[in-house]
Amino acid sequence: MISCENITKVYTNGDVETVVLKSVSFQVKAGEFVAIMGPSGSGKSTLMHILGALDSPTGGTYLLDGKDVSKLTDDQLAEIRRTKIGFVFQSFNLLSRSSVLRNVMLPLVYAGVPHDRREALAASALTAAGMPKDRWHHLSNQLSGGQMQRVAIARSMVNNPSIVLADEPTGNLDSKTGEIVLGTFQKLNQQGGHTIILITHEPYVAEHADRIIQIQDGEIVHDKANSKRRQVNLSV
Ligand SMILES: Nc1ncnc2c1ncn2[C@@H]1O[C@H](COP(=O)(O)OP(=O)(O)O)[C@@H](O)[C@H]1O
Ligand SMILES: [Mg+2]
Repeated sequence: MISCENITKVYTNGDVETVVLKSVSFQVKAGEFVAIMGPSGSGKSTLMHILGALDSPTGGTYLLDGKDVSKLTDDQLAEIRRTKIGFVFQSFNLLSRSSVLRNVMLPLVYAGVPHDRREALAASALTAAGMPKDRWHHLSNQLSGGQMQRVAIARSMVNNPSIVLADEPTGNLDSKTGEIVLGTFQKLNQQGGHTIILITHEPYVAEHADRIIQIQDGEIVHDKANSKRRQVNLSV
């Protein structure tokens, strides 16, 4: 599904070149739950932007479902981002003065889903993300951090994307709330079959995935199955 072959990324500002990714190679199969773990500044977000077709690598080949992403037109890239990939960010990125339901329906507007189908799809994503129904008509700025992240997860899932990319999704949450969010990803992976790529600098967070890819200074230093996965049992 995802195949990265010798991916490099170099930022050039004037005479200054910053090498952020150095020959990164790995593959992710459909249905995997992978954590990409590394310290701050190691290139995780840069890699996620490339995986999400939000940015292009300087070198190497990125194949998504067998297609070379560098050969796609802007329209084709936008189509991939709309239909195949869901994004979850540390800062939630919700529209603060729109309701929970409207936030989750928004990607469906862009995807051209008919009006009368949007609410049912949003409702099912919110249910899957464990968002209590009595909050669906609240404005998103009236929610707790954990609830905001559940809304962001529901929004990332509403198009039924094959891949969910989550960049430090628990970074702004207390540990108990973060655990619930990690359990939500596990449920989406184990019950919904979605491929999850979770980016984090915290080993404890990464231990919730089935495989941990460790990145340091723009290079993969470990890539191993995680035999001691921490499973969260959501009681909701
Ligand atoms: N637009 C840019 N221009 C120059 N350097 C950048 C740019 N974006 C990120 N970097 C640098 O790339 C490195 C990796 O950044 P990032 O991918 O955000 O790491 P992480 O998410 O692991 O913290 C950092 O040293 C950062 O300063
Ligand atoms: Mg980052």
